[in-house]
Amino acid sequence: MISFNETYEFTDDIPGCYSETELRRLYELVVGLPDGATIVEIGVLYGRSASIYLQVAKSGKPLNIHLVDPWAVSESDTYSYFHDLIDRYFRDVPFTMHNCLSEDVSVDIREISLLHVDGDHSPEGIETDCDGWLHLVNVDGVVVFHDYGAKNPDGSLLYPQIKAVVDDYCSVESDWMTMGVVDSQAAYHKL
Ligand SMILES: C[S@@+](CC[C@H](N)C(=O)[O-])C[C@H]1O[C@@H](n2cnc3c(N)ncnc32)[C@H](O)[C@@H]1O
Repeated sequence: MISFNETYEFTDDIPGCYSETELRRLYELVVGLPDGATIVEIGVLYGRSASIYLQVAKSGKPLNIHLVDPWAVSESDTYSYFHDLIDRYFRDVPFTMHNCLSEDVSVDIREISLLHVDGDHSPEGIETDCDGWLHLVNVDGVVVFHDYGAKNPDGSLLYPQIKAVVDDYCSVESDWMTMGVVDSQAAYHKL
């Protein structure tokens, strides 16, 4: 199995805000999944976080990877960057690309072991993703929310709406148990 340091050496060249510590936890979650587990990532951009699953799969772990992004809402040409990345390094890795908004995914994806929510950061967007996807995660599965704890230079939350909505859906009375916050990334285990 590829090591975290090996994945990071590759991933660190891909633009994006994901920190090394956050990527390390993502890596640990992925390598801990059962073979054949389903991973869904909402919000791919250049492929910084997605490159972790893709490298682990390339190194031989069977994974059912779904990557969801319309690649249109962002300003730069992230779509061609991501395609070039796939063409150059991951052509032999099986995964499914959903070139659409998370609410428009037409394939029936169930039994998700790892759901990574990093798409629309608006209050409505994060709520739509929680509503539409959290119930599709397996018991014992994990959801990861990026930018949950992201901060402005003055220490205030950059996306208070993410924390508010996630706290609401994954509160202590729910089926979710916190796995803590690493940099800006929150993770919850489904009971
Ligand atoms: C913060 S970036 C994702 C960063 C990425 N995970 C990384 O590792 O760098 C947000 C991405 O979400 C996508 N996005 C925005 N709204 C979305 C939606 N409703 N469904 C899926 N993706 C969405 C944008 O196109 C953008 O590429």
